[in-house]
Amino acid sequence: MPSPTLLPVEVHLRPDELERALSADVRAGLTATPKVLPPKWFYDQRGSELFDEITRLDEYYPTRCEREIIERVATEVAAFGAETLVELGAGSAEKTRRLLDAMVADGRLARYVPFDVSEEFLRSSADALAEQYPGLAVGAVVGDFERHLPALAALPGEGPRLVAFLGGTIGNLDPAQRATFFATLAGALRPGDGLLLGTDLVKDADRLVRAYDDDAGVTAAFNKNVLAVINRHLDADFDLDRFAHVARWDAEAEWIEMRLRSLGPQQVHVGDLELVVELGDGEEIRTEISAKFRRERVVAELGTAGLDLREWWTDAAGDFALSLSVRR
Ligand code: SAH
Ligand code: TRP
Repeated sequence: MPSPTLLPVEVHLRPDELERALSADVRAGLTATPKVLPPKWFYDQRGSELFDEITRLDEYYPTRCEREIIERVATEVAAFGAETLVELGAGSAEKTRRLLDAMVADGRLARYVPFDVSEEFLRSSADALAEQYPGLAVGAVVGDFERHLPALAALPGEGPRLVAFLGGTIGNLDPAQRATFFATLAGALRPGDGLLLGTDLVKDADRLVRAYDDDAGVTAAFNKNVLAVINRHLDADFDLDRFAHVARWDAEAEWIEMRLRSLGPQQVHVGDLELVVELGDGEEIRTEISAKFRRERVVAELGTAGLDLREWWTDAAGDFALSLSVRR
């Protein structure tokens, strides 16, 4: 077997920089009213494993729906003819393997570049993929897709690029962040490059809430994991048992809002920040939104950034959409 070609792993977030960014976010978020914590801090090794567990829950339909679509349209995606596939927020890249199979069979794909904030997890999935797809150059970018997208412009290769952003992770950005994200991404692409975007769709509120508040409590553990990350990195003393997981559908904004509710009044110390945080009984920290979309909104947001919709695919039940758009 030929040995896999490895692109260097590009690291835009060194551990010290991560710590600085986490410190700034925690200080700003826990002194704000209401309190907030940004979601990218969920994904340490344990958080990434918990998320993988979420994707296998009965209640969590998005992964199954997106996999169904990918299986059906993989050859159509391969026909786009990308020489480079970049995957933002790749995680375990489990669904991506079906895309890679089709793209490798098509014969034009030369490299695959997963991009994620979670370095350990990224390295292990990039290694596994390099081994599984000999002949494909597999690299990796450790970075924040809200800050380091311009790095994509420097990737090697003259041929078309396809950026995959799956899992509905785009919905974890609010509308203003999404506008910046799409504009920056379009700016890093060349005319004719593509975006393969997974978006969860608006549906019955009950099903939505259950997908973010499962019976086994995996999502609750995932949500609370952000507190464990802060304890470990910033010498804080959050007691995870003194918080309850809350998932609520905001019908007006059309997003699920995840919160951590303080069980009783409490004081938390963040040692490295010399910060004392007071929480009232029932006070909530907002940790994440997961926006749900309608086709018109996706088309409009892409269009504003210079990305024209070429394909819109949904699963048979119409729960989730995968779109392919092309940089003008
Ligand atoms: N694509 C996978 C994983 C989705 S979970 C799937 O569809 O199942 C979201 C992924 O995005 C995680 O791997 C997380 O580490 C990554 N992520 C979250 N915020 C990020 C950010 N700001 N920059 C880069 N990656 C991020
Ligand atoms: N991208 C996933 C989503 O919005 C992330 C996610 C799933 C998540 N369940 C969660 C984030 C629970 C925080 C808490 O569906």
